[in-house]
Amino acid sequence: MDTSLSQTKAKSSGDEVQEALRIWGRRPLSGNVRISGAKNSALVLMAGALLCPEQCRLRNVPALADINRMGQVLEALGVKLQRRGDALDIDASTLTTSKAPYELVSQLRASFFVIGSLVARLGSARVPLPGGCAIGARPVDLHVRGLQALGAEVRIEHGIVYADIKGSGGKLKGAKIYLDYPSVGATETLMMAATLAEGETIIENAAQEPEVADLANFCRAMGAKIRGAGTNTIIIVGVPRLHTTDYSIIPDRIETGTFLVAGAITGSEISLSPVIPEHLTPVIAKLREIGSEIIFEEPNRLRIIPGELQATDIATLPYPGFPTDMQAQFMTLLSLSEGNSVVSETVFENRMGHVPELVRMGADVRIKGENAIIRGVPMLSGAPVSGTDLRASAALVLAGLAADGETLVKGLHHLDRGYENLEGKLRKLGAKVERVTGNW
Ligand code: UD1
Repeated sequence: MDTSLSQTKAKSSGDEVQEALRIWGRRPLSGNVRISGAKNSALVLMAGALLCPEQCRLRNVPALADINRMGQVLEALGVKLQRRGDALDIDASTLTTSKAPYELVSQLRASFFVIGSLVARLGSARVPLPGGCAIGARPVDLHVRGLQALGAEVRIEHGIVYADIKGSGGKLKGAKIYLDYPSVGATETLMMAATLAEGETIIENAAQEPEVADLANFCRAMGAKIRGAGTNTIIIVGVPRLHTTDYSIIPDRIETGTFLVAGAITGSEISLSPVIPEHLTPVIAKLREIGSEIIFEEPNRLRIIPGELQATDIATLPYPGFPTDMQAQFMTLLSLSEGNSVVSETVFENRMGHVPELVRMGADVRIKGENAIIRGVPMLSGAPVSGTDLRASAALVLAGLAADGETLVKGLHHLDRGYENLEGKLRKLGAKVERVTGNW
């Protein structure tokens, strides 16, 4: 795969040369933003393509460091990839090994999700425990218990998860699985595994995120029998084999939400497409509470008309609740909103890394357990800051757009994981942003 797509040349620590975004704040934005394909869909659909012994084409695949990393994981498993523009051909007819490499999986949590496809297709999988953004412990117990319910023998030794199907022709067996928590990744892993199992699998208390439904639609396009994806009960009837398809990934609702906040925080009217407005229901509801008007212009276009910023409370929840992946960006917005707000992070236990950096820019935020208490301030002031994870970095870019003076957002390797050409898109809207390199 063409890894030149990687926007990340920076090193992340020490005195080495790093990339950063320099932002001159308080400039109005205007115009249209083109929203890219959903990162979290693309990553899991790439894992889903392993289920198919024929070449599949994914379209609307964003150019991101995480996608390149996932491509490398697939290539290490013997899969052939070819990228042309936003189309990615995945030929898993040559899937030869069930061992995913530690160096890659440890950098990207979503790559752990190949475990479901590998065990379904090859009868065995060896996948290291995952890495990813440092936002919490992020165990994989729900994935493991679900695979066991489907008849796999699973053990964890020396940091590697071994899953094997013993006996009965190497097939998983359909089962009823209740998830203690509606984990996105566990729902996806188990749905993929059940696709080629014998008989019927029912996943109860399943995650309802749009990316889960996108994966189900992709698998159905390959011949899988799945219904109920997007609700809390998913029923999968196993089929012996899947076939080729050509499938376009949904637009990224988190990128959309981030640009909506950019409009609200800079007092700018901007429009965004393509989007699926239903995927943004909680985000739009909160933006309206905070004072912006959101207009549905065409079936797939939104426009934000900003207003005076007012405080509100937000609690992150599994979909259709407010997304944890938008929590940091809204925290920035609320730090400039009139009045007191409380933001409760209930999904991940360690997702407030942006708070000390926002405080350095003049925000008034205190953390109490899983809650952040925010007193709105009239102004943020530009400063050098570091993103601790992907969405924290996005929150700091938003802070820089609104702040007085110059902000330097370091830790761009996080941003490049999940936002396609963020600075290019912001510049097109009129922001003054540049990528700079230095020894910070
Ligand atoms: C996915 C998204 C991530 C998003 C998250 C929640 C991808 C690639 N990433 O991550 O951007 O923030 O959904 O919307 O799609 N948990 C367990 N045991 C498990 C699995 C999860 O306890 O086996 C816990 C996690 O620690 C966390 C919570 O469940 O506290 C939610 O995690 P989960 O929904 O699994 O998130 P991911 O699939 O990792």
